[in-house]
Amino acid sequence: MWDTRRVTRPPSPPDDERVVVALDLPDATAALRLVERIGPATRFYKVGLELFCAAQARPVLDELAERGARVFCDLKLWDVPATVRRAAARLAEGGADLLSVHADPPTVAAAVEAAGSERVLAVTVLTSMGPADLAAAGYAATDPAELALRRARAALEAGAGGLVASGREAARLRSELGGGFRLVTPGIRSGRDRPVGDDQVRTVTAAEAIAAGADQVVVGRPVRDATDPQAAVAALRVEVAAALRGTAPLRGSSG
Ligand code: C5P
Repeated sequence: MWDTRRVTRPPSPPDDERVVVALDLPDATAALRLVERIGPATRFYKVGLELFCAAQARPVLDELAERGARVFCDLKLWDVPATVRRAAARLAEGGADLLSVHADPPTVAAAVEAAGSERVLAVTVLTSMGPADLAAAGYAATDPAELALRRARAALEAGAGGLVASGREAARLRSELGGGFRLVTPGIRSGRDRPVGDDQVRTVTAAEAIAAGADQVVVGRPVRDATDPQAAVAALRVEVAAALRGTAPLRGSSG
């Protein structure tokens, strides 16, 4: 059983690691151009499926290491445990500070064995999925909040050091499961920055995510597609700082 009293809260991320920018771009040149434009506004980046599939992750990981930035390798691994163990070991060797796996207990346990608990984030329920998507995918529990809680508990029991979850579930996860894990929240939208054809469903603002108990927010398109990505990250950091002080205006989320 996951015992909320047994574990202490991991150290809070520094201010310049609270906003994790997703480098969802087709090649290393474009990704590193975005890193350059963002400058010192953040020191934490997410390298995901697009760059890995384009075989462009290596130069990006090397350059981020050179700059002293931290990296979340978001490949959402889910495979037989032996394969997950080997893939997680390669990611850890390659410089991943965080890596994601689906919140399936044998998958989580294999990744933890290879990469260590503090590196492993378990994805609870994708922020692009609503109840109808969960039903269509064959889940018996179609309430995202219920399913996220169930999967989160199982992942923590299997050794995950953190969770990826929507801000809409963050407060419930904290109240039921305590503070002894890192909580990373994607699906961040301010209401003004919704991309055309957006696939995110269970969105919140950065301030809402932090106020609900997230340690870090992951932001992709609203930064990548901004006219001034550095200003976009700076604005998110102002929101995050206000939420940490308890002074952020919490708008209704737009999802
Ligand atoms: O562009 P956007 O802000 O929606 O980007 C969110 C990023 O977070 C994407 O790279 C996506 O793969 C990732 N992510 C997510 N939902 C999860 C886990 C990761 O949107 N549950």
